[in-house]
Amino acid sequence: MPGTVTGQLDFGYPWWLSYGHLAVFALAAAVLLLGYTRKWSKWPMVLLGVLALWSGSVFLLIHFGVDINGQASLPTQSFLRSGTGQVLDLGAGTGRSSIMVLTSRPQATLVASDLFGDSFERHFGPGDTPQQRLLRNLKAAGVDQRASIVTADMRKLPFEAGSFDAIVSCYAVDHLNREGINQALAEAARVLKPGGDFLLMLVANDRWAKFAFGPVLSHGGTRGSAWWTARVQEAGFQVLEEGTSPATLYLLLRR
Ligand SMILES: C[S@@+](CC[C@H](N)C(=O)[O-])C[C@H]1O[C@@H](n2cnc3c(N)ncnc32)[C@H](O)[C@@H]1O
Repeated sequence: MPGTVTGQLDFGYPWWLSYGHLAVFALAAAVLLLGYTRKWSKWPMVLLGVLALWSGSVFLLIHFGVDINGQASLPTQSFLRSGTGQVLDLGAGTGRSSIMVLTSRPQATLVASDLFGDSFERHFGPGDTPQQRLLRNLKAAGVDQRASIVTADMRKLPFEAGSFDAIVSCYAVDHLNREGINQALAEAARVLKPGGDFLLMLVANDRWAKFAFGPVLSHGGTRGSAWWTARVQEAGFQVLEEGTSPATLYLLLRR
């Protein structure tokens, strides 16, 4: 379980990812009620019922399964079992993955790195500078004293070889093209100490994601675990553990 966060976190993912299905549910339920009072014929009522059932169940799945705008838990307790060391977050964004690690591993320190470019704004929209938004969340989580923020392209990292005890990357490497993925994984292997852990979390276009989002959530997620396993092995990693949670594939790697 992650540690307690007392401040107000704002990860900034679009509202519809968290509440879009609830809005559809409310609309379908309202029209269903109207149809009932006006005695509409059977088929429109059945269709509205199916829509309400689908959107309501997806909302609950999202709320309790992914909760992309809420605090994340480590998908595996095997990551950084020692509990200490310097961790690198590749593509930290507004801090969800960094906070996941720092609250679960209270002795660890972390470098939250991101390109803070177009991709950041595409995900999180405009606002204060990306670094300010990230820092605000780190402070709200009470972990800012153990974190530093570095602007860096994960395809060419500004760190010495073997600088980190562990690496985490959530929903970020899968934004890159094939060449970028190879570069980022090679860079991760270079800056990680031998024997260090790399927790790689990717968007998976699994049955759950298809049920909830249909074609909206493609996101490189058509690549399955075999594809990613081949890429990480080419980069020199060994796969220690693999698992899934709704819309997510994770690989725990060791260099
Ligand atoms: C979907 S967000 C994930 C943020 C965070 N890891 C999380 O779990 O919420 C993807 C992040 O990857 C970053 N990113 C994309 N390409 C990058 C690159 N080449 N180098 C570093 N960061 C990159 C984007 O700026 C964005 O913040």
